[in-house]
Amino acid sequence: RAQTRKSLYTLLEKSAEFYREQLKTHANKGRAVNYLKGRGLTGKIAGDYLIGYAPPGWENLLKALGEAEDDKRMLIEGGMLIHQPDQGKLYDRFRERIIFPIRDIRGRVIGFGGRVLDDSKPKYLNSPETPVFHKGKELYGLYEARQAYKEIPRLLVVEGYMDVVSLAQFGICYGVATLGTASGEDHLELAFKYTNEVVFCFDGDEAGRRAARRALEVALPVMTDGRTVQFLFLPDGEDPDTLVRQIGPEKFEKLIASRAIPLEDYLFDAVSTGLDLKRLEHKARLSKLAAPLIYQLPKGVYRELMFQQLAKR
Ligand code: UTP
Ligand code: MN
Ligand code: MN
Ligand code: MN
Ligand code: MN
Repeated sequence: RAQTRKSLYTLLEKSAEFYREQLKTHANKGRAVNYLKGRGLTGKIAGDYLIGYAPPGWENLLKALGEAEDDKRMLIEGGMLIHQPDQGKLYDRFRERIIFPIRDIRGRVIGFGGRVLDDSKPKYLNSPETPVFHKGKELYGLYEARQAYKEIPRLLVVEGYMDVVSLAQFGICYGVATLGTASGEDHLELAFKYTNEVVFCFDGDEAGRRAARRALEVALPVMTDGRTVQFLFLPDGEDPDTLVRQIGPEKFEKLIASRAIPLEDYLFDAVSTGLDLKRLEHKARLSKLAAPLIYQLPKGVYRELMFQQLAKR
């Protein structure tokens, strides 16, 4: 078992190296390089995040790394090759995509995200769950954030790979992303191992606002005294990538400092929408909606203060 994992890590590392190499040498590399340049990324940041290129074709990785039967089996287990035995098919999962390797906190490559270079669908493809990759427990960019700081000032939880990389390119190296899945309690517990301050910053669209509402509920039970959770809502149509490009890192950080909403305010906002708090029955409704949320908080000073707030409102 331990042996299996070790070789799995090795093959995933080699896969990342293979895609890196393709970005530098493949006949079609120009398309990939232009794409990355078009998104404003430098070679330096692509290197820091091990960004690579899976060229077109069904058997590139298979031929490069899957000659031996053992390796083939392992690449299937690691989600890199797709096996359809009934149809006698075995082929590369990632084809003609920009490749974002995902590293665990120790820096080991555990999975990949791949983006198309045009408007085709699905826009992103992610590694499936494997013995070493658990989407619900990993944060993209956390390893890189740890490398960048002696002490991580805060963690900004964003939606996408491009958000993390783009922020980092502008010197904001504390962005992390969940991987094609909603933020869960494990993500948050992981983040709080490395900082006391988490800021959720999702896209300025309906999906982003829904994600924030969900993140609120996920955050409640882990809000032990001393931890802070805030929410930064972006202008409509923006995500952290587009916004930091537009306004630059200084303004972006000022926005975090001045516009991020503490969890308590967001909680009361979220349950107050549509209520007229001058009316008694609306006050009652507020209480009915807020109390069960506040009860989700761990016992402590913060929870007591929240109940006082509720009483005031
Ligand atoms: P977005 O649609 O907001 O993409 O999805 P993005 O990160 O802004 O992408 P760009 O800027 O167009 O490149 C946010 C995240 O949701 C997951 C990915 O992790 C993505 O980074 N996602 C999105 C998928 O897993 N599959 C998809 O088809 C789309
Ligand atoms: Mn595991
Ligand atoms: Mn979006
Ligand atoms: Mn984007
Ligand atoms: Mn986005």
